[in-house]
Amino acid sequence: MPHNFIIYRERLEGIGIKQNIEKEGLGVRTFFSRLGGKILLRKKIIKYFPLEYSTYIEPFVGSGALFFQSLKKPKEIINDLDKDLVDMFRDIRRVNKDDIVKMNFDLNKERFDNYKNLPSPTDYRKRLERNIYISRGSFAGMRRSFSSSIVERGRGGDAVNRRLIQDLDCIQERLKGVEILNTDYKKVIKMHNSPSTFIYLDPPYFEKATGGYPKSSVSPEELYDNLKSLKSRWLMSYNDHPLIRQIFKDFYIKSIDTTYVFENKIKGRTIGKELLISNYPLVEHPYVEYECSLKG
Ligand SMILES: C[S@@+](CC[C@H](N)C(=O)[O-])C[C@H]1O[C@@H](n2cnc3c(N)ncnc32)[C@H](O)[C@@H]1O
Repeated sequence: MPHNFIIYRERLEGIGIKQNIEKEGLGVRTFFSRLGGKILLRKKIIKYFPLEYSTYIEPFVGSGALFFQSLKKPKEIINDLDKDLVDMFRDIRRVNKDDIVKMNFDLNKERFDNYKNLPSPTDYRKRLERNIYISRGSFAGMRRSFSSSIVERGRGGDAVNRRLIQDLDCIQERLKGVEILNTDYKKVIKMHNSPSTFIYLDPPYFEKATGGYPKSSVSPEELYDNLKSLKSRWLMSYNDHPLIRQIFKDFYIKSIDTTYVFENKIKGRTIGKELLISNYPLVEHPYVEYECSLKG
């Protein structure tokens, strides 16, 4: 085992966390995709999470790509302004495998448009089926319009039920005890304002397409005003833009490579730069993910 892994394991054990840090793939996958989702960047970002904290807050949780793989903490709060996403996190905790067997994820435009045009169901099983269907049937989880290219890539059908059934126990285990909120991020980041709180923020990119997100006024200036005097430690991922670098110049800034799937539909993926900004020194640790106790 590499030397830095041994040191890291000893430090984790010293604060009561027992992790098999050599193994990967025991974590939990998110169960829907989201425009701007960090599924490809999750490992690079988690490596910069601080080592010790007891409260975790994620105010722009989206699909939870980071949340699902981060280590479980005694107090956790996830939030998104989009009610449908919040319903998905709340509803997946209530269903069982039989409920999922009965769901139908055969993707077609007519059903997609019906779901979009009618109000979200009040029955939690039907609501979950509808919300996963819309995420699956739209490009990059934008939840706006039906994408036939998604269907061609086989993103629907029985495979969705099989994967949900396979992952359900672990998803529910990871979500156990988590407070799930549906409000503006400004309210959430002020909760539990203390050095033992860690906040990971992934706001909508500045000056980039945010189609499909609820209308909100998240700007770098507003983020700065709300973050600048927090006692909690925070880490934010943002697109690399001169104005963002300027506004946050007094904080710690690091740039990492990323691929934007969405930016160029014709060419596919493009390489870009993403900023990590924090109010604590950015020290890279080995990647350690949440381990589901129900996986072998
Ligand atoms: C870049 S995405 C987060 C993606 C997430 N990290 C993931 O891996 O899927 C930004 C999220 O912020 C949410 N959002 C936009 N404005 C918000 C606000 N004012 N307060 C809370 N959430 C907001 C959007 O609905 C969207 O899900």
